[in-house]
Amino acid sequence: MRSHGCGDLRQDASGSSVQLCGWVDRRRDHGGVIFIDLRDRSGVVQITVDPDNGAEVFAAAEHLRNETVLQVNGVVRARPAESLNDRLATGAIEVLASAITVLNPVRGNLPFPVSVHDEDNTREELRLRYRYLDLRRERMGQNLRLRHQTVRAIRGYLEAEGFIEVETPVLTRSTPEGARDYLVPSRVCGGEWFALPQSPQLFKQLLMVGGLERYYQIARCFRDEDLRADRQPEFTQLDMEMSFLDQEQILALNEGLIAQIWKQVKGVELPRPFPRMSWHDAMERYGTDRPDTRYGMELVNVSDLVAGIGFKVFSGAVASGGSVKVLPVPGGNEALSNVRIKPGGDVFSEAQAAGAGGLAFIRVREGGEIDTIGAIKDNLSEQAKAELLARTGALPGTLLLFGAGDTTTVNKALDRVRQFLARELGLVKPDRENDQWNFLWVVDFPMFEFNQDEHRYEALHHPFCAPNTEDLGTDPAAWADTLPTARAQAYDLVLNGLELGGGSLRIHNSDLQRQVLQTVGLPLEEANQQFGFLMDALDLGAPPHGGIAFGLDRMVMLLAGEESIRDTIAFPKTQQARCLMTGAPGGVASKQLQELHVASIWDPEQD
Ligand code: AMO
Repeated sequence: MRSHGCGDLRQDASGSSVQLCGWVDRRRDHGGVIFIDLRDRSGVVQITVDPDNGAEVFAAAEHLRNETVLQVNGVVRARPAESLNDRLATGAIEVLASAITVLNPVRGNLPFPVSVHDEDNTREELRLRYRYLDLRRERMGQNLRLRHQTVRAIRGYLEAEGFIEVETPVLTRSTPEGARDYLVPSRVCGGEWFALPQSPQLFKQLLMVGGLERYYQIARCFRDEDLRADRQPEFTQLDMEMSFLDQEQILALNEGLIAQIWKQVKGVELPRPFPRMSWHDAMERYGTDRPDTRYGMELVNVSDLVAGIGFKVFSGAVASGGSVKVLPVPGGNEALSNVRIKPGGDVFSEAQAAGAGGLAFIRVREGGEIDTIGAIKDNLSEQAKAELLARTGALPGTLLLFGAGDTTTVNKALDRVRQFLARELGLVKPDRENDQWNFLWVVDFPMFEFNQDEHRYEALHHPFCAPNTEDLGTDPAAWADTLPTARAQAYDLVLNGLELGGGSLRIHNSDLQRQVLQTVGLPLEEANQQFGFLMDALDLGAPPHGGIAFGLDRMVMLLAGEESIRDTIAFPKTQQARCLMTGAPGGVASKQLQELHVASIWDPEQD
């Protein structure tokens, strides 16, 4: 149907006859001559329709609405000097039309402009409802192409490294990754349910027991959890598993993979090896296990300094087992007024949103003097003051923000304020302009964290991660005691403050696996019942193995400089996990429910 892509034509094509297909990006009537910008995925070219070229072609061009699908025949010619357009790749030429065929007219009103000339400020709801129109726009087209390039770079690298792609089931048993499952009722096995995989975790381990040694999959995963800009209920992982490699080898192989992706997709040469930080250091210095290391403002623990002072907010926090930490903000004296830090202010609100009661603060003045409101200053000895300045490295002009309370809340609040201020103070560029790639391996995660509400240990990653062998010890009889505080042989790859991927070495000993499942509160019988197939496999020649999974949507989001993974997925869901285009999820006929042996207790009055 066509000889060229619209956006591919250049001056060297002058004089040649072409046949093009595409959409009317816009149409302009210049008193006698009509110009049509014709767009296909390769770009836009100007079609010039001159009445001198025939009444028929001119009549065809006269009433064209935007987004009409056309086939155009014509001859390429150089544009006259005064109408050159250097913002367009095809701006030196135009196509003088000899025939125009409408392949499909536009019948309804366009809900939003699709043209390359229009600003990208359509409401997201509308974009999602008419996603096919949104995909026609330059930005989304580019993002999906970039996603494709990313997957191609991944396949190229992994295949050269001897990985093979294997598909794993989507109708399966629950795989515990910490979120709620999406369930599918079985018609033939009445009363029983499949779960959609939160990840292919157990299948990929079983592929290692199956002797495949190097597996990967671009795997769809399903998690029914609260959604955010970087989370979707249905998302894609690059999932990998490897046998007979230790942690160092796995990390090196993955650095090679990431470097190849960034080189092929962004043309960026990443320095290697990537830096590493222990989970403990990350929590201490940044208050989070995914620190953004593009800027400083590291947290400083001053619990010991303020434990004994008369300022109860501080000493009380330490006395009850919590912490006092400082977020130093260089130049903060000038940038942040008291009003913004006190109740009602925007900085205060950030801390509050993370659960903090407030933010005490100190302003460091010339000569190391400190200035504050409230009682901190009066309660700090000269020695403690000097130590505070030394530890925080605060120069005159620095604002010191304090978090006091239980350590988790202090970390959450100061992490949130730190990120908020970094953007506010221009320490990081807006996402679209970002050119800084701070990769960081966070290693040595604890195996478990204690869930205070439920009074039980929870796996920090998932209950198949191998513990650090030194922490565990060699005596199986002691494992019940050594496991709860052991570190895991687990690692996360963080990029600019976002968790890009995570993985671990796995347990390949069934006794240890049972013990871990018991530690997270699964009685032995239940563990055997739910995971007996895994335990059997571990007993039948499971090789030492480990793996990792990267969030593909997140990776593409960062590569594309987008703020939401919705802009990297062709048909994403909203924050309410809805597809606005198809209207899913929707009701079903009661006959279908009956066939599935399911009854609904949904009460619209109650929700
Ligand atoms: P994990 O749960 O850390 O590990 O997931 C791996 C990566 O997947 C991405 N991710 C998500 N992306 C979009 N929407 C979501 N709801 C979502 N949840 C997770 C993140 C994350 O780092 N089976 C293990 C991997 C392993 O141990 O090999 C797993 O799934 O980028």
